[in-house]
Amino acid sequence: MKLITCGLPYANGKAHIGHLRTYVPADVYVRYLRMFGEEVIFVCGSDCHGTPIVINAEKEGLKPKELVDIYHEHFQEVFRKIDVNFDYFGRTDAEYHHERTQEIVKRLLENGYIYPKEIELAYCPNCDRFLPDRYVEGVCPYCGEIARGDECDQGCGRHLEPGEILEPRCKICGAKAIYRKQKHYFFRLTEFKDFLLEFLGKLGGTENALNYAKQWVTMELKDWCITRNLEWGVKFPGEDLVVYVWVDAPIGYISFTEKACEGRIDWRDIWLRNKAEIVHFIGLDIVYHHCIFWPAMLKGSDYSLPNAVVASGMVKVEGKTFSKSRGYVVWVEDDYLASGLNTDFLRYYLVNYTSHQKDLNFSWEVFGDKINNELIANLGNFLYRVTHFAWKNFDGEIQAKVDRNAMNAIQAAIKKIKEALENWEFKVASDAFMELSSFGNNYFQNAKPWDLIKSDRNECEKAVATCLQIAKALVILSYPVLPKTMKKFSGFLGFDVEKATTDDALKIESFKIKKPEIPFTKVLPEKIAELEDTMHKRIAMAEKKEEKEFEETGKETREVKEVVGEIENVKGEVEDVKEKEGEIVMEENPSEISFDEFKKLDLRIGKVVKAEKIEKSKKLLRLEIDIGGEVRQVVAGIAEYYKPEDLIGRLLPILVNMKPAKLMGVESRGMILAADVNGEPVLLYPDKEVKPGTKIR
Ligand code: MSP
Ligand code: ZN
Repeated sequence: MKLITCGLPYANGKAHIGHLRTYVPADVYVRYLRMFGEEVIFVCGSDCHGTPIVINAEKEGLKPKELVDIYHEHFQEVFRKIDVNFDYFGRTDAEYHHERTQEIVKRLLENGYIYPKEIELAYCPNCDRFLPDRYVEGVCPYCGEIARGDECDQGCGRHLEPGEILEPRCKICGAKAIYRKQKHYFFRLTEFKDFLLEFLGKLGGTENALNYAKQWVTMELKDWCITRNLEWGVKFPGEDLVVYVWVDAPIGYISFTEKACEGRIDWRDIWLRNKAEIVHFIGLDIVYHHCIFWPAMLKGSDYSLPNAVVASGMVKVEGKTFSKSRGYVVWVEDDYLASGLNTDFLRYYLVNYTSHQKDLNFSWEVFGDKINNELIANLGNFLYRVTHFAWKNFDGEIQAKVDRNAMNAIQAAIKKIKEALENWEFKVASDAFMELSSFGNNYFQNAKPWDLIKSDRNECEKAVATCLQIAKALVILSYPVLPKTMKKFSGFLGFDVEKATTDDALKIESFKIKKPEIPFTKVLPEKIAELEDTMHKRIAMAEKKEEKEFEETGKETREVKEVVGEIENVKGEVEDVKEKEGEIVMEENPSEISFDEFKKLDLRIGKVVKAEKIEKSKKLLRLEIDIGGEVRQVVAGIAEYYKPEDLIGRLLPILVNMKPAKLMGVESRGMILAADVNGEPVLLYPDKEVKPGTKIR
């Protein structure tokens, strides 16, 4: 038996396409498993606690529960429409969940893994209250970026412990906060180092998650503050505190399993007796919580441990980091569902665009192209032409006479899917049925049944029977990705795909075809233009708003939760690899680009204000460069050719909007440009003295 879970959505805002990167592949996986005959339990639910929810509710004049009710409903509705079918979709503010959380916290206390400690906490003298998490804003002690509460979400992405943030301010009234002592409770994470190292060595799942986790465990573990000054949340036993949201949220995986198992099996078999395989589907932004905190909590309270953590790469929008405040967002309901497009298109795109572990760069243009020229041109075309031909020329009645080669192709597709699932490669699994569809199209084209029908009806029937067998296999094998469409289409082929298994794809029977309808309708270019337009307007509006706020407050205002950070550029060079429709193209001889593309480069003249060698590195210098009102830290590989002291005061061209990367543990936010003379960097400088920040065009 398998238990599959998905990261719980915060019941704090609407569903966007980034969310679906966790939920759609998980649902696809579950449907495939069931088709292969596995028993599966699939759970998720709303994450209802935490300060962002309390703050947003306050802003809207609602009680936290009222806000949660709205978004809990919303997510359920979205999942229903997009065919993500959980066995149970719970909520963490439910009583049964509070009980399970308290039971686990008590066990951790009994086992000696939780201890009290006085700590300095941000306190607002003006509001007369302690400020938990998102109520505090300040500076990240690690990277110097503006950080909020428990996470440096704009800078290095680190989880921040209470008391760590520098120059704290109260988010409610804006006053300077002070640090005051208060008793809180800590989880002895440091005691789990050896356990975690061993556990991570055995843990299954995607490499991206496992590699980060292993790195974190060897680098730094700290005991973890697990209580907060809030009313809303799960009460910590015997104190006027609640547990930190990241303590109770993953416990939802257990409490929702209890609910899903009611009247079916004993949930304890899964969570206490190791009788099921536990697989967590998440996005790359919450690997730390799932590979470090969570297994340590489970171990400390004697619960079963997960077998795999499957992390998807993050969704970006038109090349930009997902950002609600900047308008780089695609809403599931307002954009996609409102467009009336087939929901299976989005499922296919999300699963098939690129490998699960890679970032997915959303673009409407690519979406339209992929659906029309791939899904519809290949699969849609084959299914329709074959069934239509059979219905028209044979009255739908076809005797079973199938070509062996086709059976082999079906068998190969099934095998490929099975292997792909074992490697969490959902793109490969969906490629497998698309390849089978190409095989079918070729078969049909070569057999020329439209000629055969006139010359040799018997031969023709054989070709059509073969193609129908392929069509049936395609309907079955693509159903997990395209459930709505294939459920309907299986009716034309005379069976119900919801009840089918992969074995049925190989069962040879005669067919009784009904008059088919085309499975998919093409995405019109006007529709794509309209959706793009909506997005561009949203981005423009967000830019205007940001400018206005910038003028008014003199500082940037930012989203409560955006995307990750701590995703170090482990492989360095990998960034040069471009993704196009799931394929990797190394850019050796860059092709021509448009002026619009060039405009995306934020090139400026910067002035070096500080330069020093990076310890243990022969090649790297750490530079601080004034780019006009802001000083950027940039790491440059010029140490063998330039002395730090010679660089101070120099003007250099710099690419400002280079994706941040870490080199030898030092963050680099920008790239200086130099001429490459057989590997030797030769710096460039302007012809005249210009101000730092001057644009290069
Ligand atoms: N509430 C936490 C998860 C708690 S799990 C015990 C959370 N919620 S979320 O609403 O922000 O995200 C829900 C799921 O969607 C998570 O698995 C998260 O990784 C995923 N994603 C949210 N935004 C994403 C992208 N832009 N791209 C890919 N996945 C992302 O995190
Ligand atoms: Zn930081």
